[in-house]
Amino acid sequence: MNTSFKALLLEQGANGVSASIQQIDEQQLPDGDVTIAVEYSGLNYKDGMVLQGIGRLVRQYPHVPGVDLAGRVIDSQSPDYQIGDRVLLTGWRVGEIHWGGYAERARVRAEWLVPLADGLDCRTAMSLGTAGLAAMLAILALEDYGLRPDIGEVLVTGGAGGVGSIAIAYLTALGYPVVASSGRPEAVDYLKELGATRVIARSELSQPLERPLESERWAGCVDAVGGDTLARVLAETALHGAVASVGLAGGNQFSSSLLPFLLRGVGLLGIDSTTCPRARRLQAWKRLARDLPKAQLDAITQEVELDELPQLGEAILAGGVRGRVVVKVGD
Ligand SMILES: NC(=O)c1ccc[n+]([C@@H]2O[C@H](COP(=O)([O-])OP(=O)(O)OC[C@H]3O[C@@H](n4cnc5c(N)ncnc54)[C@H](OP(=O)(O)O)[C@@H]3O)[C@@H](O)[C@H]2O)c1
Repeated sequence: MNTSFKALLLEQGANGVSASIQQIDEQQLPDGDVTIAVEYSGLNYKDGMVLQGIGRLVRQYPHVPGVDLAGRVIDSQSPDYQIGDRVLLTGWRVGEIHWGGYAERARVRAEWLVPLADGLDCRTAMSLGTAGLAAMLAILALEDYGLRPDIGEVLVTGGAGGVGSIAIAYLTALGYPVVASSGRPEAVDYLKELGATRVIARSELSQPLERPLESERWAGCVDAVGGDTLARVLAETALHGAVASVGLAGGNQFSSSLLPFLLRGVGLLGIDSTTCPRARRLQAWKRLARDLPKAQLDAITQEVELDELPQLGEAILAGGVRGRVVVKVGD
């Protein structure tokens, strides 16, 4: 017997992409070896782009967005997953070229899934989501480069956003002295409650560089902003420090001299949570569970319903969403 489920569906019309809540027949689910009853999804910057129909991320409509999902397995052709297992999925272009998490059912490839790490439930996993995975991959990359809590201050740019907020909370929990940069003066208390020892204005970092090297300020940086900010942060990074480049909220191009790399041994570490290899992904989720700053994460997370997403998608692209949004999808 075919059953139907609720989904937020994007359709393309003459006036662009429109979203509506619809009942979908289970037969319409894409191919895959594991079917999941989705309990929670999340909202990321990329979801905002998909919901607005920009960036050419979606190839085919109608489309179910949602780059993150967590839920329980209800059917499995894979030896790796049994009915009832709790799983999560981020990346692999799910929610872009594959149907995503804004629906009560998802059918996906087993190799994209990650079993929920001990200590995480579906809601907590989604309040981390792609943003949390990217933040942890950045922290792991910085640690691999030699970052330790006693070396100096660690900068987090785009502090009040999803990646930024989670990076601040985890770095603080790990004992790092964290400085947040933000374009929102009203977010200063919020950022300090997350653990930032100081907050600097976004504009302090976005001025184009006049010299190839500036005074050394940062032992490391998690950069969610990119653009001129990234160029300046590289020039301000201390000897043998590193910058993990996670995002481009402020621009996807930058110009830098080679001097931070050649005279200070600064590392520029690229972070890609979407295709992150499985072993590293599992390591990152284990660390996300182990080092979880639960109270801070709960404090920065708001829960919404599927029908609120089109409006929130617009807001996240305008830099108007603080912290993380989890989406209650099904039971
Ligand atoms: N590499 C990966 O695997 C990966 C994974 C997840 C996300 N990302 C990328 O990381 C970035 C952040 O994602 P997110 O989900 O955290 O988004 P988000 O919640 O919208 O956060 C982005 C933050 O950047 C700051 N910002 C926004 N517009 C800006 C501008 N024009 N100039 C300077 N700063 C600006 C804002 O922080 P303040 O208000 O505090 O200034 C904003 O909250 C995005 O570019 C996203 O695509 C990459």
